[in-house]
Amino acid sequence: MLFPLIKDILSLSVDSDPQDSRELKVRGWVRTKRELKNLVFVELNDGSCLRNIQCTFDRSGENTAESVLEALETLETGASVEISGVLVPSPAAGQALELAASFIRIIGPAPAAARPGIPAYPLQKKRHSLEFLREISHLRPRTNTLAAVARVRSRLAFGIHQFFRENGYQYIHTPIITASDAEGAGAMFQVTTLDLEALSKSGLPVDYGKDFFGRKTGLTVSGQLEAETYASALSRVYTFGPTFRAENSNTARHLAEFWMVEPETAFAELEDNMDLAEEFLKFLFTIALKDCGEDLAFFEAHYEKGLIKNLESLASSQFSHISYSAAVEELEKHAGAFQFKPFWGCDLQSEHEKYLTEEVFSGPVIVTGYPKEIKAFYMKLNDDAKTVRAMDVLVPRLGEIIGGSQREENLEKLETRMGEMGMDGENYQWYLDLRRYGAVPHSGFGLGFERLVQYVTGMANIRDVIPYPRAAGQAEF
Ligand code: 4AD
Ligand code: MG
Repeated sequence: MLFPLIKDILSLSVDSDPQDSRELKVRGWVRTKRELKNLVFVELNDGSCLRNIQCTFDRSGENTAESVLEALETLETGASVEISGVLVPSPAAGQALELAASFIRIIGPAPAAARPGIPAYPLQKKRHSLEFLREISHLRPRTNTLAAVARVRSRLAFGIHQFFRENGYQYIHTPIITASDAEGAGAMFQVTTLDLEALSKSGLPVDYGKDFFGRKTGLTVSGQLEAETYASALSRVYTFGPTFRAENSNTARHLAEFWMVEPETAFAELEDNMDLAEEFLKFLFTIALKDCGEDLAFFEAHYEKGLIKNLESLASSQFSHISYSAAVEELEKHAGAFQFKPFWGCDLQSEHEKYLTEEVFSGPVIVTGYPKEIKAFYMKLNDDAKTVRAMDVLVPRLGEIIGGSQREENLEKLETRMGEMGMDGENYQWYLDLRRYGAVPHSGFGLGFERLVQYVTGMANIRDVIPYPRAAGQAEF
């Protein structure tokens, strides 16, 4: 039998059910110890919820054993313990229940002062900066903030599977190691077993035929191309897994390893794709509001005022829509507000995305019809032969959270575009086959999972919403 979780214990009701007023054992990590005359209050947390359970000891109690007094004496923040007692209504404000505790056993101490070979436990009862916590990423889930992020992240991940399952999508596992650059942007990490040191000493050219896979391979930047092949057979599919980008962008919204959710839908055009993206995001906001209320209230109080109201209003309002051309016109009117002057043909910078979402629309906006030059090779060309059926969902504070498009299903047009972009068609014959046999209009998008978690929690830096962030120059742990 697994041990009861504090979240379940705290949801018991001692008033209506005297049965719940029984001897219980709780386990967890000590957050604080306070003393008031003969009373000792131990706040215990096991990460199952934000709240601690307060365990109250009476040192003057007749039955209080010597071992308990000793344990209470040596107990420090961060120690793991087992505590037994009776669940009672709490006389203190701010909590309904507490444990009238009679027994405590220290499972693993966490010394607050350094000892030979063991530095002091770094998470003492005080506020630590998020920057400091990143340096101890292996211990930071023991803080309120990182634990709350982990719970919201977990709930959202499950919500993603729920949403797609309810809508007839099959979950497809696309490969991590691949020979094709799905975005054609040259941001792949190489995967090789060649002896680079020996090669560089030999001065010989690299022969990828001798590499592990007999060709040049890398870590995937997106599961989209493989998802397209399965959508062309199962109609509705999605992938959800880690993706990798060797971009050297050191920002609060970029990682070198991040998780992406990518649905791909056959017999769907751009408009269907936009509707799906909007419905999907609203579903996830609703789930978070319903199931993560306590954690969201914490983020609201400590990180972003108005967070909950904002999510509530998003979950029920309509996203705005604008074409890229109209968006650029709008931005040009306020060109003085930007470091990077907007012009037709430019990629939207984050200051532009911020302006559109925060100043022009005060909410999410879906931008469509980007110039083909700034988008990936697979996007369907519009009749103007200049723009593609792309859609980016932009949100306040973060900018792009989703990028997607209708896919080019015309073989000739796709081959032309790949040629223009200097891609080696040989590597993509399997992808082109989808246009040769039983081709259908199809569309999909990618949601950056960490950006979603950032948006829902209000965390400013993407490094604080993934357990072990990987970015340029950063791969500790
Ligand atoms: O816009 P992107 O590059 O689109 C694709 O990869 C398509 N294959 C998706 C598709 O149509 N199936 O990336 C999609 C999303 C972005 O909108 C962003 O939220 C996130 O992935 N993203 C990143 N998140 C964190 N760090 C990075 N370096 C990211 N690059 C993209
Ligand atoms: Mg994009």
